[in-house]
Amino acid sequence: MKITLKVTLLALIAGVVAACAVVPREPFSSLRDGSVNAADSAPTEKAFIGKGPGNDARIPRTFAHQPPLIPHTVGGYEEISAIENPCLDCHIDDELNGKKMPRVHRSHLVQVANAQAAPVLAMKYWQCNSCHVAQTDAKPLVENVFQDSARRP
Ligand code: HEC
Ligand code: HEC
Repeated sequence: MKITLKVTLLALIAGVVAACAVVPREPFSSLRDGSVNAADSAPTEKAFIGKGPGNDARIPRTFAHQPPLIPHTVGGYEEISAIENPCLDCHIDDELNGKKMPRVHRSHLVQVANAQAAPVLAMKYWQCNSCHVAQTDAKPLVENVFQDSARRP
């Protein structure tokens, strides 16, 4: 009985080893390039596209409630600190020095009963660039076939 069990086990192990040996190896491919032991190199910094606030057409949204993409360059405005937010210089209201500005979505504001009160940003929306992203012309790392919901048949 014991010998039969041993023989069966050995046959099983031999079978598994043989199966492994014939599996063809996939060629190694990595998005970060190089070997796993190599130190990561910093990606090259890409310049923002867009001319500057007030000079760029808004980018059409691709699905409902998408945070709109930032069409203008954010050079000089991207440093959001704990006390300063340069985005709010323009976006807390719908005009600045007589020029029309896209005001933050009403969901970003503290809800107050007084409609005349100055708009106040809800603090969970402080870090604008965790949802809104400025544009570069970087190529996608991986091809994809995404179609926005407006164009889908
Ligand atoms: C000097 C004023 C100004 C500053 C500062 C500014 N913006 Fe803008 N932003 C605009 C204007 C004006 C537009 C409308 C598009 C245009 O004319 O460039 C716009 C467009 C946008 C849009 C697109 C809105 C839509 O409905 O499509 C987003 C999102 C945005 N800005 C986010 C930001 C963020 C985030 C920052 C800070 C990093 C910022 N903006 C700084 C003026 C400004
Ligand atoms: C947690 C994610 C998030 C953060 C943080 C955030 N937004 Fe938004 N924002 C959104 C979404 C989502 C929308 C689209 C809302 C919709 O249309 O339902 C939006 C819409 C907007 C719009 C267009 C408003 C309109 O009525 O068309 C502007 C401008 C904007 N945000 C600016 C800002 C600025 C400036 C900040 C920082 C002070 C900011 N947002 C922070 C998610 C965010």
